[in-house]
Amino acid sequence: MDIDRIKDYLWNNRQRFLDELTQFLRFPSISAQQAHDKDTLACAKWIKDRLAALGLKARLADDSSQPVVLAVAEGRSGRQVAIYGHYDVQPVDPLDQWHTMPFEPVIKDGMIFARGVSDDKGQLYAHVMAVEAILRTGGRLPSTVVFLLEGQEESGGDHLARFLQSDKDIRPEAVMVSDSSMYDQQTPALTYGLRGIVAMELIVKALAKDVHSGTYGGAVANPAIVLSWLLSRCLGPDGRIQIPGIYDDVLPLADWERENIRKLAFDDQGLITQLGAKGLFGEPRYSMLERMWARPTFEINGLISGYTGQGAKTIIPAEACAKISMRLVPDQRPERVQALVRDYLERVCPNTVDLQIHHLHASGPILFDIQHPMMRKAADALRIGFGRQPVFIRCGGSIPVVEQFVQKWQCPVLLMGFGQDSDGAHSPNEHFSIQSLFNGALASAALLLSL
Ligand code: BES
Ligand code: ZN
Repeated sequence: MDIDRIKDYLWNNRQRFLDELTQFLRFPSISAQQAHDKDTLACAKWIKDRLAALGLKARLADDSSQPVVLAVAEGRSGRQVAIYGHYDVQPVDPLDQWHTMPFEPVIKDGMIFARGVSDDKGQLYAHVMAVEAILRTGGRLPSTVVFLLEGQEESGGDHLARFLQSDKDIRPEAVMVSDSSMYDQQTPALTYGLRGIVAMELIVKALAKDVHSGTYGGAVANPAIVLSWLLSRCLGPDGRIQIPGIYDDVLPLADWERENIRKLAFDDQGLITQLGAKGLFGEPRYSMLERMWARPTFEINGLISGYTGQGAKTIIPAEACAKISMRLVPDQRPERVQALVRDYLERVCPNTVDLQIHHLHASGPILFDIQHPMMRKAADALRIGFGRQPVFIRCGGSIPVVEQFVQKWQCPVLLMGFGQDSDGAHSPNEHFSIQSLFNGALASAALLLSL
C-alpha cells in the first residue's frame, strides 16, 4: 500500500530530513527587522533551491528581500491543491531567557529547539518531506501541488496579497495550511475557525512638551491619565467589551459546537500552570474554550508614556500612546469594528486633549463547514498520520492570508496544525516535536494522495 511505502521512506531518511530542517532553521529570517533582510532572502533562496532540487518548478515571485516563494509539482490531473506556509520568524528577544541559541538548533527529549521551528518552518517542512516521499517512492501526485510560501506573515507585509491579486494561474480546490496547533500532544485537530483582528495605535496629546508636575499639576490634563480612562472604559472587569454595538454581529456558537467543546473537556488548571498565571479571567457565562475561540477580545499590547527610567521624575508627560488590538469572531467585520471603536473613543474623550487613532492592520474572522468533503478527507489524513481520530477545533489566533484565499478561490482552507499551543511560538525556547514532524509529513502525504 502506498502509505506504508511513504512511512518507510520517511523513517529511512529520518536523519537527513532532520539535518536539512536544521539548516533551514539556522537562517535568522526575522521579517520585522531590516537588519535581517539578507538572512530572510537567503532563507527564501534555500527553501526555493530545496524544492527545485526535488524537481519542482520553483522561483521567487518578487525581487524584495522577503519574497513569496512559489514551487509547482505537476500532477496527473488538471486539478490543483496549494500548500501555504511562512519561512519568516518572530524576533528572539528576550534573548537572555533562551537556554540555547535561537538560531543554533538543538535536539533534546524528542524536541527541536529553535526560533521558528513550530511557527512555522518545521510545520511547513513536513509538507516538503511529504511531497519528496511521494515523488521518490515512485508515486505520482494526483493533483498538481503549488507551494505558496511567504516571508512576511509575522510582520504584516502585503507581498503575498499583491501576488494573489495579479496571479491568474493558480486555482486550487483546497489550500493546506499547517500554522496552528493540535488539540494536545496525542490528539490531532482540524481547525475550522480563526479569529480576525483589528490592530490600532491610540495617541493622546495634551501639551507641547513634558512639564513640571508640581507647577502645572491640577491645571492641565495629564495625557497618560486620559489614555488610562479611555482604555478602562473599553473593557469591564467581567471581561465584557464596553464599546456600544460591538456584540451586535457576534454569532452565538452552534449547538453542535457547544456540545463539541463540552466533550473536549478543557483543563482550566492546566492552563494556569502552563502560563504561570495567577488565575483566569473572562466572561463568566463562557467556558475557557468559548472565550478563546468564539468571543471577541480587547487587549492592550503596549503602553508608552512619560518617564520610565530609574528613580522618580516629576513631570506631566506631553503625550501617551497605546497599541491595542481586538480579536474578532464571526460575523464581525473589521471595518465596522474600527468605526465603532473610533466613534466611541472620540465621544468619550475629553476635549482638553487631542486624540489620534491610527489603524495598523486588520483581517476578518473565518469559519469553515466541517461537513465539506475536503475537510473530511483532511480529517482522514490526520488519522492516518497520527494514528488517532482528530477533533474539530477553532483557534484564537489569526492567519490573515486565509481570508484572501477564501475570497479569491472560494475553496476550503485545511488548517491542519502539527504544533502545540505550548511550543513557545513568539516566546523564548520555541520547540517542536520530532514525532509531530514525521506524523505531520505522513498526514500530508496521505492527504495529497487522496486529493
Ligand atoms: N501561527 C500563528 C497563528 C496562530 C496562533 C494559529 C495561535 C494558531 C494558534 C501566526 O503565525 C500568527 O502569529 N499570526 C498573528 C497574525 C497577526 C500578526 C495579524 C496573530 O495571530 O497574532
Ligand atoms: Zn505562524
